[in-house]
Amino acid sequence: MTKEEAKKKIESLRKELQEANYKYYVLAQPDMSDYDFDRKLEELQKLEQEFPEFFDPNSPTQRVGGEPTTEFKTVKHKYPMLSLDKSYNIQDLKDWINRISKLVDEKFSFCVELKYDGVSLSNQYIDKKLVQSLTRGDGITGDDVTNNARTIRTLPLVLRGNDVPHEVFARGEVLISRKNFERINKEQAQKGETTYMNARNLAAGTLKLLDPKIVAKRQLDFVAYFMLGEKLPVDNQYDALKKLEQWGFFVPHDYIKATNLDEIMDFILDWGVKRFDFPYDTDGIVVKVNEFDIQEKLGYTAKSPRWAMAYKFPAERKLTKLLSVDFQVGRTGKVTPVANLAPIKLAGTIVKRATLHNEDNMKKLDLHEGDYVYVEKAGEIIPQVVGVDKSKRQPGAKPITFIDHCPVCNTPLIKQGADYFCVNTTTCEPQIKAQIEHFVSRKAMDIDGLGPEIINLLYQNGLIHNIADLYDLKVDDLKNLEGLGEKSAQNIINSIQKSKNQSFERVLYALGIRHVGENAAKLIAKHFKSIDRLMQASAEEITAIKGIGEKIAESIKTYFSNPKNIELINRLKQAGLQFESHEDENPVVDKLHGKKFVISGTFEHFSRDELKQNIEHNGGKVVSSVSKNTDYLLAGDKPGPSKVSKAQNLNISIISEADYLNMIK
Ligand code: IVH
Repeated sequence: MTKEEAKKKIESLRKELQEANYKYYVLAQPDMSDYDFDRKLEELQKLEQEFPEFFDPNSPTQRVGGEPTTEFKTVKHKYPMLSLDKSYNIQDLKDWINRISKLVDEKFSFCVELKYDGVSLSNQYIDKKLVQSLTRGDGITGDDVTNNARTIRTLPLVLRGNDVPHEVFARGEVLISRKNFERINKEQAQKGETTYMNARNLAAGTLKLLDPKIVAKRQLDFVAYFMLGEKLPVDNQYDALKKLEQWGFFVPHDYIKATNLDEIMDFILDWGVKRFDFPYDTDGIVVKVNEFDIQEKLGYTAKSPRWAMAYKFPAERKLTKLLSVDFQVGRTGKVTPVANLAPIKLAGTIVKRATLHNEDNMKKLDLHEGDYVYVEKAGEIIPQVVGVDKSKRQPGAKPITFIDHCPVCNTPLIKQGADYFCVNTTTCEPQIKAQIEHFVSRKAMDIDGLGPEIINLLYQNGLIHNIADLYDLKVDDLKNLEGLGEKSAQNIINSIQKSKNQSFERVLYALGIRHVGENAAKLIAKHFKSIDRLMQASAEEITAIKGIGEKIAESIKTYFSNPKNIELINRLKQAGLQFESHEDENPVVDKLHGKKFVISGTFEHFSRDELKQNIEHNGGKVVSSVSKNTDYLLAGDKPGPSKVSKAQNLNISIISEADYLNMIK
């Protein structure tokens, strides 16, 4: 291919992929199959490698994240990033409308939008191309996080349309959906790493990560709500949002033009309820004077525009009595303080316990025995103590401090970052029970019938003290335990025996080495192929694997330096677990090449996870919702009726488990 031809091809691929990205992420109306997208992206990657002279930081290939940086540059905002005045009740809003109505003679309207609870970001585009993304910082200067911003799929790298000014700034909010927040927090907890209090903290933390590849995996979103520049093609906020959408941005999910307080109120009341089912956290609504010329007349105070006002939804917060503080020890030994409370109803559920997060947070709260504390739900889900009513404190009440020894096994605690750890990983009861729970869990050894209660029972009866003891259990040990009979005892033993066939990567994950999550275990197993080789590897050899960092390597070395862990592994080897990978004996077949499946209902031969693995193993893909690009709806027992009717409407084949088994025969 000549240089000229390559250039043309690169340009056309970039355009096609940008278009597909926009349709998929912004319009949610995909028109290119994932398979085609991946193929074209690969083709583009190859061409860009072959012809590095055509590198473009805004190419769709750059979404995966470039090289890590060591720090972020501080840059002055061309237009300062102001904040919004806030009101907490309708009267404040009314007063504001009266105030500004007196300042201008003309009639004006309002644009009413959702107030997203994320982190603001200002994006500069020159000749349609993203050149710089800055955080708010102190409003005058912000951090240059362009490389991280480029990984956000809903932030266009190149704008669409023919009316984009030479230079334009698109400001908005970086968000993380509640679903992703939960997923990431779960993964963090599994790896024994810091969890985040809410989606906003997670989005803020992610935007400041030094490695854009990790940012890409977190799946941030960007919603644009503000346009700035010299020669804008619109003269009011409502049209600006429409325009931003045409240019390729994701804009507020709902916004209206309103002419009076009643219409604004309707929007507030509507979203005050709908927000709880919304995929993103919102903390209020924003009312903006719609017309730019009136905005200009109203102007700005030092901190905020006079033409806009935020109305904050009331966060449900209740006062209750603190009964005591527990210190919970997790699987990795991390100690978390938890408040026991006099029960109260909060945002729909009865709350008896609330997290205190860590020592720093406890110090900030300055808790004393018998205090009355304010409780809120973080991100509407996890109850947390947010304050203390000091006026209700009894004279002479003692302060509550963090502990310095493990509350269970009395081992001195060690501080790492903001958290304390009990390092007695081999005999501290809650750690062991949690390790066993992790070991048997579905994504690890997938042993059925061993829930937390049974594990506790086995532990209390002295039948298991570690994961290796599971493989010495006999039906006779189990059948007389409370709640178990001969049949369930036999089922458990069968399931334990069956787990000996689980692959090395699963065994490695199941060991519960700190920071070694599912993904890391996969990469490490693939690279070293046996536990013996991994045990002999140096930290440098481990970090040489792409995607494995120092923290993981260090944790692996620490794990293997404990003779008790070596003993455990030797016993598991004796029991017949897989400590080597036999990848080549199980080659990937391609019977379902590129075919897209939606799975619904329950199945006889597979769990949902197993079915997904099986489809992928055969070269197919599993997607979550039925669209015109779906090839099959694989329906088990009691499939979702909406999925079935959608598939029928779109003329998509609905197949049974038996049909599927035939397909892969
Ligand atoms: S307009 C000059 N619109 O709220 C005013 N802000 O508390 C520019 N926010 O810093 C902001 N949703 O991060 C605007 N629809 C929306 C918003 C919004 C969320 C955030 C933004 C701002 C903060 C002020």
